[in-house]
Amino acid sequence: MDVNDMGRDLEKVLVSAKEIDARLSELAKEIDEYYDGEPIVLVGVLRGSVMAMADLARKLHTPLVMDWMATSSYGSGTKSSGVVRILKDLNEDISGRRILIVEDIVDSGLTLSWLVENLQSRGPKEIKIMTMLRKPEAIRKMKVDVDWVAFDVGEEFVIGYGLDYAEEYRGLPFIGTLASHVYGGEE
Ligand code: IMP
Repeated sequence: MDVNDMGRDLEKVLVSAKEIDARLSELAKEIDEYYDGEPIVLVGVLRGSVMAMADLARKLHTPLVMDWMATSSYGSGTKSSGVVRILKDLNEDISGRRILIVEDIVDSGLTLSWLVENLQSRGPKEIKIMTMLRKPEAIRKMKVDVDWVAFDVGEEFVIGYGLDYAEEYRGLPFIGTLASHVYGGEE
């Protein structure tokens, strides 16, 4: 999927595929330095973090296991429901292990703070967090400390590179915003 498949639905590209790639390379270097060869468990939050997880894992030299969790936090709208439910749990036993959560986006931070608390109760050695995107509300509320942030974005709803609107647009290689007609608004 690329920009040509978007037609009039795309408002603008916020972060290009090239910028994503370059920034992830930088972060992978920092993350490798931090872990210094110790094995980690990458915990991806489905479905939004699939792209970030796949690209980050390929750039890291740290020995890693990839595992996935699915939670429900959003319906098909654009606002967090605040209600988090486990739809799919981890396969790995994480007790005594070093965990790196890979998130797509931190908005209110509700999903992430719930997730950290949930994983903490399983006795890991350490939990660190990497997110592709962070919205201003996450910084204001400071519910959780994010260790690595690829990009800070504004309040606007974003799609692409794993992020969806009503399950669409996840396959885009870049991050962008949608034209208002997609939400049912005027142009
Ligand atoms: P939070 O609990 O408010 O931090 O919301 C986190 C989750 O909401 C993310 O993991 C996304 O799945 C979703 N989300 C928040 N903002 C956006 C956005 O701009 N585009 C797409 N999904 C979003």
